Amino acid sequence: MSSLKLTLVVAVALVDTDNRILLAQRPEGKQLAGLWEFPGGKVEPGERPEETLIRELREELGIAVKEACLAPLTFASHAYESFHLLMPLYICRRWEGFVQPLEGQALKWVRPQELRAYPMPPADEPLIPFLVDLLGA
Ligand code: C5P
Repeated sequence: MSSLKLTLVVAVALVDTDNRILLAQRPEGKQLAGLWEFPGGKVEPGERPEETLIRELREELGIAVKEACLAPLTFASHAYESFHLLMPLYICRRWEGFVQPLEGQALKWVRPQELRAYPMPPADEPLIPFLVDLLGA
């Protein structure tokens, strides 16, 4: 049995009206810098994952999301060297405001079948076929 600490990170597939999904590039200086990920972040003590997403989307992208617009889809589970990551993935198709890179991160709206062209953290990659099945081309 693994004794790795469990870290809870929550992520979201933001899907626009053209059926494109938002990817954010992890900035220099962070672990896994340069890789593309679904927006989200670490669930802080006392938060529910939905509260984390609403906070992170406001802080990182400047958009307001209502909890009712967040639907859980699946989750990723990956054993990194020093921790085990558990990452629920939500989908969100409705928000208020315009997506902006408030933390200087590169952003890309990507069609489902193009997701594979973007190098991702190993925890995120297994989510791609799920999204392609769900959202189609
Ligand atoms: O984003 P943050 O650095 O707080 O996330 C903590 C860790 O979770 C990262 O170092 C990375 O190993 C992992 N992570 C991931 N996929 C994401 C977000 C985070 O594998 N989409």
